[in-house]
Amino acid sequence: MKKQKRLGILTSGGDCPGLNTVIRAVLNHATVTYDWQVVGIPYATQGLQERKSVSLNYHGLDLHGIDPLMCFGGTILGTINKGDTIAHIDEIAAGYHDLELDALIGIGGDGSLSILHQLQNQGNWQFIAIPKTIDNDVALTEKVVGFDTAVNTIVDAINRLTFTAASHDRVMIIEVMGRSAGHLALEAGISGGADVILIPEIPYSIQQIYRHLSELRTRYLRKFAIIVVAEGAKLAEDSRKYPQCEKPSCGMGQYIADEIKEYSNQEQETEIRVSVLGHIQRGGIPSASDRLIASAFGKAAVDLVVAGESGLMVSWQNGRVVPVPLEAVLAKSPCSVEPSSFLVETARALGIYIGKQ
Ligand code: F6P
Repeated sequence: MKKQKRLGILTSGGDCPGLNTVIRAVLNHATVTYDWQVVGIPYATQGLQERKSVSLNYHGLDLHGIDPLMCFGGTILGTINKGDTIAHIDEIAAGYHDLELDALIGIGGDGSLSILHQLQNQGNWQFIAIPKTIDNDVALTEKVVGFDTAVNTIVDAINRLTFTAASHDRVMIIEVMGRSAGHLALEAGISGGADVILIPEIPYSIQQIYRHLSELRTRYLRKFAIIVVAEGAKLAEDSRKYPQCEKPSCGMGQYIADEIKEYSNQEQETEIRVSVLGHIQRGGIPSASDRLIASAFGKAAVDLVVAGESGLMVSWQNGRVVPVPLEAVLAKSPCSVEPSSFLVETARALGIYIGKQ
């Protein structure tokens, strides 16, 4: 009898909504279409290091056949976004063979995919990557799993905070994640109707923010304002109070609040509140769009595995899923917001202050 092939799947790096939807797609397609056995590797490379795997069964998760994987946030396999993988690279790479895997699918962001790529080379694995991250900074793909849900979560928060800001005539500063990239702040800021968007790719000046807020008040009679700030936003060199202080320990949102307060003291008191959205942005059930991307990526990754391909990442291009060499992706990641992009232009055209021109 022909030996059933064994496909491993793991989630690596920070979690995001849609990971379980990818696992579901891979599991269903590999078992139903190709009769492969699918095993989950818990806690990413840690599972390989400890030679751990769990059997995943098609529709075997619930007595009634309900499949919660489609809509659960997080990852049922667990994940890690730190640890000294390089110190244990031989051991982890060998884990693939000790677990008798014929192929491995890894779902990760640019950092974790780079580690998995090194392990693939070291261990001579058959490996296919699926991009996920709320930061949206993986190159050579128009979409990644998790970003859309995070943008929707932020827009929901902006909607709520707008009502309370307006009721009290306050400036509301909303700090969002994104590491060194401003995609989350930019897309959520435009969609949520922000007045100011601050991203790492375009330095801002406190004076200009203050002038923009004053103009909103005096010329357009707006008594409140919404500022969306990326956690990695950068103050322009010439307006930095402390030249070394690129990343204030109080957080970017609080830092800007303090700076605006200090600057505005000369004229009139501005009431400011800061909301740091934090890990709320990583939680929640995946949006329809993330479920669709996750399903299409999972299906395409399994097809590549069965075709014997390796070292590729599935990417979204012009409404299709296209394989691209993982090495080429990593050479261009993390990818930032292009300061002259049409979305930045759109923000400016709508009267949003988005940093120094
Ligand atoms: O990369 C995803 C991300 O959520 C970033 O936006 C954020 O800076 C970081 O992870 C937070 O990491 P942790 O979960 O370790 O606090």
